[in-house]
Amino acid sequence: MALSKAAPVTNAVTDAPIPHRFTAPGPLTGRIRVPGDKSISHRSIMLGALAIGETRVTGLLEGEDVMATAAAMRAMGAQVLRQAQDGRADAEWRVHGVGVGGLLQPRTALDMGNSGTSTRLLMGLVASHGITATFIGDASLSGRPMSRVTEPLGRMGAQFHGASGGTLPITMEGLCPAVPIEYRLPVASAQVKSAVMLAALNTPGITTVIEPVPTRDHSERMLKGFGADVEIEEVDGATGRERAIRVRGEADLQPQIIEVPGDPSSAAFFVVAALLVEGSDLVIENVGLNPTRAGLFEVLRQMGGHIEEMNTREVGGEPVADLRVRHSALTGIEVDPAIAPSMIDEFPVLFVAASLAEGTTTTSGLEELRVKESDRLAAMAAALTGAGATIEEREDGLVIHGTGGAPLRGSANSATQTLLDHRIAMSMAVAGLASRDGVEVDDTRPIATSFPNFMALLGGAVR
Ligand code: S3P
Repeated sequence: MALSKAAPVTNAVTDAPIPHRFTAPGPLTGRIRVPGDKSISHRSIMLGALAIGETRVTGLLEGEDVMATAAAMRAMGAQVLRQAQDGRADAEWRVHGVGVGGLLQPRTALDMGNSGTSTRLLMGLVASHGITATFIGDASLSGRPMSRVTEPLGRMGAQFHGASGGTLPITMEGLCPAVPIEYRLPVASAQVKSAVMLAALNTPGITTVIEPVPTRDHSERMLKGFGADVEIEEVDGATGRERAIRVRGEADLQPQIIEVPGDPSSAAFFVVAALLVEGSDLVIENVGLNPTRAGLFEVLRQMGGHIEEMNTREVGGEPVADLRVRHSALTGIEVDPAIAPSMIDEFPVLFVAASLAEGTTTTSGLEELRVKESDRLAAMAAALTGAGATIEEREDGLVIHGTGGAPLRGSANSATQTLLDHRIAMSMAVAGLASRDGVEVDDTRPIATSFPNFMALLGGAVR
């Protein structure tokens, strides 16, 4: 058994673009497993790095985003090792933490690559340590707003240099001890919530985050698992019932054994592909179904999609099931904006499903999609229109007039612009499967940020 620091080499975004034409396949059948949940993977490394002792993680997503988190935690003193397991394709990851308050000052800039989650959550960690760190990222990440985290972390005492435009590169000086705050989230963002909660771990006293709209709760679940004092209470707020999350510092985290469930955001591409491609009957095993993440499956069922949950169980403190998905005729609906936070990363692929549904699908309340890895409303409107779909782009959503099941024309002459956005690339791959002429994606390399074996799995699922 070999211990190594590096993950297996994927098609990292280094050299020339790797275009690919996705064409109508045979049906998707059999059983597949998608890689581990990206959000849970990031958090397992970060919290493992703050516990004293050895945390063991299986099912970790070995995508570029999570590797950026691993590299940053190493740069701040933790040991993060990949250990091959005899006779098994997947590895076990071992994290030896430095303890809350024990992070070291990194010697060089922390390269966050394409990963907003790494950047925002790690800024939270650095904010309450007496260290200085510089965060840099790729062109996509360097255009994304960071003031949403620098603002609350600044109130806790951190200082920022180079952040005048609120974008990377940013140098951050943490404060120890930091000041506990009460913070009401102005945007529905699990990343902002988590940044403040992580800063709270090394901050004496009680830090409170108030969440008007529920967002993914992996940080709360995992922090409790590591033994942190986290209390969640429903309170009356300005917009109705709100969640108050209280974290008591300074925390003492206990190392854990973590099994990361499959990522519902990755399963989403195969769920939609199986719904759209005639004759498909696919089982996706071990999909995380945390209610704060499972909105897409609910919306697709409302549209007439056959998605069955089998073998429901709990893995690593998270609800999990195997999903059986069969080809279905879909009908357009008006998507309730209240469900958006529980499927925030799944809208690009929902837009693909809607493009082949009978009738009109209307989405709204999606301003946040404009500040993801790309402006996902503009990118998907352009990409799907280029493939022959009928789309109206509004400020806060798309209105999609579906084909009623007829394949899209495809994009024979112009390649889809993926704009360094993995989810645009994979969504348009799915559109290609449901098209007459196929869809040319200009660059498949960004897929490695969250789903390194996407192409291989797609090849294997298609009969
Ligand atoms: C994430 C939260 C979401 C999501 C991102 C991962 C997380 O971002 O889009 O892919 O792990 O906390 P926001 O919190 O900005 O909505």
